Amino acid sequence: MRLSLRFVLPLVLVLAAFAYAIVPLVDQLTLRWFVRDMDIRAELIANTIAEPLLEQVASGSKAKTAAFFMRITQDERLYAIGYCAGATGAPLASTLLPGDIRCDNLARFEGAGDHVLKSASGPLHVAVKRLSSGGLAEGKLVLVHDMSFVERRSEETRRYVFYFFAGLAAAISLITVVIAQLAWRGWVQGMRALLRGNARPDQPEIKSAHPEFRPIARDLQRLIHDLESEARSRDEGQTTWTAESLRAILQGELRGEDIIIVSNREPYIHQQKGEHIEVQRPASGLVTAMEPIMRACSGTWIAHGSGSADRAVVDAHDHVQVPPEKPAYQIRRLWLTPEEEAGYYFGFANEGLWPLCHIAHVRPTFRSADWAHYEAVNRKFARAVVEESKTPAPIVLVQDYHFALLPRMIRALLPEATVIMFWHIPWPNPESFSICPWREQIVDGMLGSSILGFHTQSHCNNFVDTVDRLLEARVDRESYRVSLGGHVTAVRRYPISIDWPPGPEMVGKPVADCRAEIRAKNDLPHDHAIGIGVDRLDYTKGIVERFRAIERLMELKPEWIGRFSFIQIAAPTRSSIEEYQSHEAQVRALAARINERFSPSGRAGPPPIILKIEHHEQWQVYEHYRAADVCFVSSLHDGMNLVAKEFIAARDDERGVLVLSQFTGAARELPEALIVNPYDAGQCAAALHLALTMTETEQRDRMRLMRRLVGEFNVYRWAGRMLLDAAIMRRRGRLPELAAVATSGGSNG
Ligand code: F6P
Repeated sequence: MRLSLRFVLPLVLVLAAFAYAIVPLVDQLTLRWFVRDMDIRAELIANTIAEPLLEQVASGSKAKTAAFFMRITQDERLYAIGYCAGATGAPLASTLLPGDIRCDNLARFEGAGDHVLKSASGPLHVAVKRLSSGGLAEGKLVLVHDMSFVERRSEETRRYVFYFFAGLAAAISLITVVIAQLAWRGWVQGMRALLRGNARPDQPEIKSAHPEFRPIARDLQRLIHDLESEARSRDEGQTTWTAESLRAILQGELRGEDIIIVSNREPYIHQQKGEHIEVQRPASGLVTAMEPIMRACSGTWIAHGSGSADRAVVDAHDHVQVPPEKPAYQIRRLWLTPEEEAGYYFGFANEGLWPLCHIAHVRPTFRSADWAHYEAVNRKFARAVVEESKTPAPIVLVQDYHFALLPRMIRALLPEATVIMFWHIPWPNPESFSICPWREQIVDGMLGSSILGFHTQSHCNNFVDTVDRLLEARVDRESYRVSLGGHVTAVRRYPISIDWPPGPEMVGKPVADCRAEIRAKNDLPHDHAIGIGVDRLDYTKGIVERFRAIERLMELKPEWIGRFSFIQIAAPTRSSIEEYQSHEAQVRALAARINERFSPSGRAGPPPIILKIEHHEQWQVYEHYRAADVCFVSSLHDGMNLVAKEFIAARDDERGVLVLSQFTGAARELPEALIVNPYDAGQCAAALHLALTMTETEQRDRMRLMRRLVGEFNVYRWAGRMLLDAAIMRRRGRLPELAAVATSGGSNG
C-alpha cells in the first residue's frame, strides 16, 4: 500500500498542477471565442436593421424608433441598443443602455480591442457599427449584448476540466497501482526466494522475470559467495567447534531441515541378557563419530537392527528413541534375514569390498549371490529413506562401503535430496579396484551422491582416477567434481575426528587412579610400564605385526621383560568370516608364544602381552588410555583410525606417547606421534623403547600439539564442513541459471 501511494501521490499532484494551470487558459480562450461570436452577431444585427433604422431616424419619429428598439431587444442576448446621429449628445436608445455609453465615448468600442464593459448586472459586450446609406441619415449603432452566460459557461467548463482531470488521475492511478502491484509481487517473491536460497529455476515468478532477474541473480550469487567465504574464514578462525556450532549451522544455514543418517551399524544395540535387556555401544569408529552429531541435530538414524532384543524395544514403526538415558534422536531399525546379512554384510561388504579397499594382503572374495543380496539390501534401505523423509529434499548422510549403490537409488526416488556419502575406509588405486566384477556399478552408485567424502586427498585422487578409468564421466580435476548423466558429484576430503572435549564420564577419574586400578586388575606391580592397543579384532589393524614389534622390543631391550606389559583390547568382530576366525587364532597363538618366551620367573611374573578379546564400554577404554604410558596403533591400512585421536583426547595430563602407523589417515594429521612402518618390527620396537624412555617435557610438548589439533579439528567440524558445503550446494542449485556456475566453482578441501 505504501508502495502504491509512492506512485499515486506524485501523479495526482502533477495532474492537479496541470489542471490549475489549464483552467485560466481555457477561460481566456472561451472568452475570446464568445467575444468573437458577439462581434459577428453584432455585425449581423447591424446589417439587418441598418436600412429600417435609418428610415425611422430619417422620418424623425423618436417614438417609432424607440418602439423599434424595444422589439429588437426582445432577443434574450441583446441587452440594449442605441443610436448616435452625431459625435456628441445622448444616444437614442432602448431603456437598458448603460449610462456609461455616450455618443462622445464610442471610440473605445470600435475596431479591435476590449469590447467588454463591466456593469452592475454583469459583463456586457458593446459593439459600435457605422451606419450609412446613400441619401439617408448616417450615424453609429450601439449594440450591447449580455455576457453573463459566458460566466456561467466558463464555470461549467472549469467544472468539466476538474472532473476530467480527476477521472484521468483515478484511471492512471488505478492502472499504475495494478501494474506495479503485479510486477512488484513477482519481483518481491523472486527476490525473497533468491535471498532465502530456495528459488528454483522452474518457479513461475523466477521464470517469468527471467531476463530481468539474470543480472540481479548474478550479483546476488556473488554476494552470497562473498558472505559464504567470510563465513568460511570465520569457521577457519573458530578454534573449537561444538555441538552448539553444529546446531547453529543446522538451524541457520539449513533452516532446521531434518537429517537422515544411514549406516549398517546401529549406535545402540539391545541385547537380551537372561531376564533383562542390556544396551550395548558397538566398537565402531563410524558410530563414535556419528553419534555426537546425531545428538546435536536430532533426526533419524536408519540402521540394521542386529541385537537380540532390538525388536522388543521398537514401536509400531520400528523406531526407538536414543540415547536411552536422555533421548535426543530416533533409530529406525531395518530387519535383515540371515541370508541377507550373510550375503550383503559378511559376504559382499566384508569379504569383497573390505579387503579390496584395504591393502592388507587378504584376497577379496566376490560371489554373485552376495552381490544380489548387496543390491537388494541397498534397495531396502533406499525405501526406508523415502519412508523416513518428511520432505522431498532431505539431507541424507550415507555411511560407508555397505551402501555404495544407495546414493544412486535415493536419487532415483528423491531427485531433490542432498545425498552426502562418506566412505570411511581407504579407496585403492584404479588397478587394485578394477578386479571387482561389479566395479562400474559401484562407482556409478556412489556418483548418485551430491558430495562424496573421503578421509584423505590420496583417497579422493584414487577415486577420481578410478572414475576416469571406468566410466564415461567428465572429471574436473581443478574443482574435483565428476559429472555423470547431467548430475554433478563433488569429491572432497573431510578428515573424520572425535567428540571434543570428552565428557567427565570419560576423563573424570584422575590419571593416577586409572593407573592404579588397571595395574591392580592385571596384577601388575605399582611401577610397571603399560602399553595399550584398542581395536576390533580385524586383520587390517596390524595386531600380529604389533605383537611382533613387542617381541622384538623384548629381544633388543630385555630390561623391559617383567617391567612392561602391553594390554591389547580386541573387540570381537565379523566372527563368522573364516579370515577373521583364523586371524583371531593367529593373534591368540602369537600372544601366547611371546608370553611364554618372555614372562619372567617361569610365567609367574607380568606377561609382555595381556590380550582381552571382549567387548569394553567406552569409559573402560578411556580408563586404559589414561593409565597407559604408550598407545600403539599399527594398522596396515586405515582410513583414519580414531583410536589415535581418542588416546590424545583422554590425556588431559599431557603425558603418554602415541606410536602411529604411517598407513593410517591419522598419521597425516599427527606428525608429533612417533610414526612407524608396522611391517618393520625393528623400527617399531625402537619407537616403543623411545616412547617408554621419553622425558616428561618431550611427552608434554608432543601431546600439547596433538591435543590442539584434535580439539580444533573435532567431529563437529568434520560434520559442520560437510553440512555447510551441502547448504551452499542446495542454495546454488536453486538459483536460476546459476546451476551451471555452481557446478564449476568451489574448492576441494
Ligand atoms: O572402518 C570402517 C568401519 O565402518 C568403521 O567406521 C567401523 O569402526 C567399522 O568399520 C565397523 O565395522 P562393523 O560395523 O562391521 O563392526
